[in-house]
Amino acid sequence: MNKNTEQMSAPNAPLETQAEAVRAVRDANAFAARIVRWQRENGRHGLPWQGTCDPYPIWLSEIMLQQTRVGVVLDYFPRFLARFPDVQALAAAPQEEVLALWAGLGYYARARNLHACARQIAHEHDGIFPQTAMLLAALPGIGRSTAAAIAAFAFHERAPILDGNVKRVLCRHFAIEGVPVSAVEKSLWNLAASLLPAAPEMPAYTQGLMDLGAILCLAREPRCLPCPLRKRCRAHREGRTQSLPTPRTPTVRPSRKASFLLVTDGEHILLERRPPSGVWGGLFALPEGREWISRLKLHAVPLQPLPFREHVFTHFRLEISPFLCQVAQMPELPDDSLVCVTLSNAQKSAIPAPVARLLEEVQKRED
Ligand code: ADE
Repeated sequence: MNKNTEQMSAPNAPLETQAEAVRAVRDANAFAARIVRWQRENGRHGLPWQGTCDPYPIWLSEIMLQQTRVGVVLDYFPRFLARFPDVQALAAAPQEEVLALWAGLGYYARARNLHACARQIAHEHDGIFPQTAMLLAALPGIGRSTAAAIAAFAFHERAPILDGNVKRVLCRHFAIEGVPVSAVEKSLWNLAASLLPAAPEMPAYTQGLMDLGAILCLAREPRCLPCPLRKRCRAHREGRTQSLPTPRTPTVRPSRKASFLLVTDGEHILLERRPPSGVWGGLFALPEGREWISRLKLHAVPLQPLPFREHVFTHFRLEISPFLCQVAQMPELPDDSLVCVTLSNAQKSAIPAPVARLLEEVQKRED
């Protein structure tokens, strides 16, 4: 009898209940076994954060992979690891440097939490990662699913993951209706916990669930034919892959307008340091708002409007009106929220992606 069978069939329960429990365990074992086999044969292998049990690179990759595709992370991960080879090196770095290496990956709260987490591990845990999902989940930026993924990959812990891809796989396979939040999400966590294989299989199983969600069980056009779960998947059998998971009502994001000033003499540019928290917290962006025109005494300089653009954040849309302000001489800085840097140094600083794109456009005009 494996671990699941021991837990689930109480010796004094009626025979029917026991038989049902044994069947449920057999189904769970088969579910996990199919995923593990498929992962070994068809899943992702050889990624730079795989093939190790060191929690540092595993943690780093899992944080980068939240809301970011593997292809993009492949570009950032080696650079980050080369500069910060261990948790102590990351903890010792100034936040500005961490943000500069993160620039372009978006969701900058991840980078600030990453840094806070490294400092907590260095100062409160002697530089050693806590070794259970529960303890990991108490650290900044590590939610329950990420904690479970790290614990499964690094310590083979039997802890369930439940990110967006996994929710989709489970909702389809078990035909679970209802938007997967709150009550439905709670049952999904319980279901995910009941499907786990034995400890040695946990890395392949966890990676397999992620890979299956990302490669086959796609949101719009799932690739059911090569799916190892096809025969048992209720959504597939019942022709309901398009209606499961139950779609959320689309989020209507409020919009916010912002004017950005690109004050440049062709060689330098002004950047504004954002407050430590909030949108682009701790990053450098362009001076925002027309108030800067009087503060920088730029009344006499013509403002050239550049094409309008929009940047979508989780909770709102930012409608950006950029203005190029070409000056003969860079203005005096009224306070230390502004910095004057060369255009090439600006590109190497901790700037968000839409600002990087604007700077590229300005640089192209100068070339
Ligand atoms: N998304 C989150 N973690 C991942 C991982 N380890 N591999 C691929 N995609 C992921």
